[in-house]
Amino acid sequence: MKVLVTGGTGYIGSHTVLCLLQAGHDVVVVDNLVNSSRESLNRVQELAGRNVVFAHTDLLDEAALTAVFDQHAVGAVIHFAGLKAVGESVQQPLRYYHNNVTGTINLLRVMDAHDVRTLVFSSSATVYGGNNAVPYVEKMDIGADNPYGRTKEQIEDILSDIGAADSRWHIALLRYFNPVGAHESGRIGEDPLGIPNNLVPFIAQVAVGRREKLMIFGGDYDTPDGTCLRDYIHVMDLSEGHVAAVDYVASRAGVFRWNLGSGIGSSVFDVLHAFERAVGHTLPSELAPRRDGDLPAFWADPSAALADLSWSTSKSLDEMCQDHWRWQKNNPNGYAAP
Ligand code: NAD
Ligand code: UD1
Repeated sequence: MKVLVTGGTGYIGSHTVLCLLQAGHDVVVVDNLVNSSRESLNRVQELAGRNVVFAHTDLLDEAALTAVFDQHAVGAVIHFAGLKAVGESVQQPLRYYHNNVTGTINLLRVMDAHDVRTLVFSSSATVYGGNNAVPYVEKMDIGADNPYGRTKEQIEDILSDIGAADSRWHIALLRYFNPVGAHESGRIGEDPLGIPNNLVPFIAQVAVGRREKLMIFGGDYDTPDGTCLRDYIHVMDLSEGHVAAVDYVASRAGVFRWNLGSGIGSSVFDVLHAFERAVGHTLPSELAPRRDGDLPAFWADPSAALADLSWSTSKSLDEMCQDHWRWQKNNPNGYAAP
């Protein structure tokens, strides 16, 4: 099948493009490169030994997007493109709603006009908000706590309404937990702009000497070691989940929701120590005040994805850190030239 991947030069997108190529699909990538580099696709092509079509296109440009669909016989879409920084979304809500929600509406209009109605959407565990008890289950009421999360929630609502109104749509809403790691080759990985917000990219930059030390946000939570618990998932496991989801919905109409997580809660210290094992020495860190908006603990109940997609995670926290470290060590400046 020919799969169009929006946001396919980004972190999760590039790994998923590789998995799609390896599973025999053809791929067209649409990205405006606002948070990524074209180099990621060069490396994906090298790893797969196959080519990808790249369209340097913004989802906000409906005419340009129409031209891409006119040129390619697309069978399904995996939609990663979006802005994703929680703090930035609080500062710039209009930019986030416009880019993420309007961009998705444009995509859906163009898909519908071209009779393409199979879609896998990157949602997030952040849609569960702070009012649910762990582990999170797909049937829980959702309610995100910040503008970024609300863009995901609104897009989920739009897709649910479309699926209810028109039985020709085949839609998967994938709620990811905390993606980390990189392809085992160390050739592709996460390349955050500026100071990383997320834990593992920050630790990786400490390990490579780009940051002085890790600040551990809060050591006084009601958890076994006092730090927050999260459900970390290797980006390759996550990418395989997308291939399984697109294959599943291709032959089934309706709207499906799946958590993609491991079902295991790991603390900040668990992650730091796993990364230190990967690097081979301790890393500088310091306890700091809690970060606003952090929940003490969240992890997935991943049993629905196992039952429906025969998918579950296979890689451990140590493997996530080893692979993330290999990428960071081999590419200290990410995709930028040294
Ligand atoms: P990323 O920033 O690396 O990838 C997103 C890609 O979308 C980038 O390449 C960016 O250039 C592109 N993009 C953004 N706006 C666009 C537009 N208007 N038109 C075309 N391209 C556009 O992020 P990622 O970590 O790979 O995340 C992929 C998706 O998964 C995002 O939707 C994100 O919200 C979601 N998600 C990510 C995480 C995470 O922790 N990384 C967790 C849950 C959900
Ligand atoms: C963050 C976002 C969440 C988003 C997710 C994507 C916030 C409040 N939440 O969640 O909406 O879906 O990323 O993966 O931004 N930590 C440190 N020091 C650091 C960085 C993080 O101690 O320098 C701690 C955090 O306090 C947290 C844990 O590490 O306890 C994981 O943090 P992070 O990687 O940012 O992920 P989330 O908090 O799950």
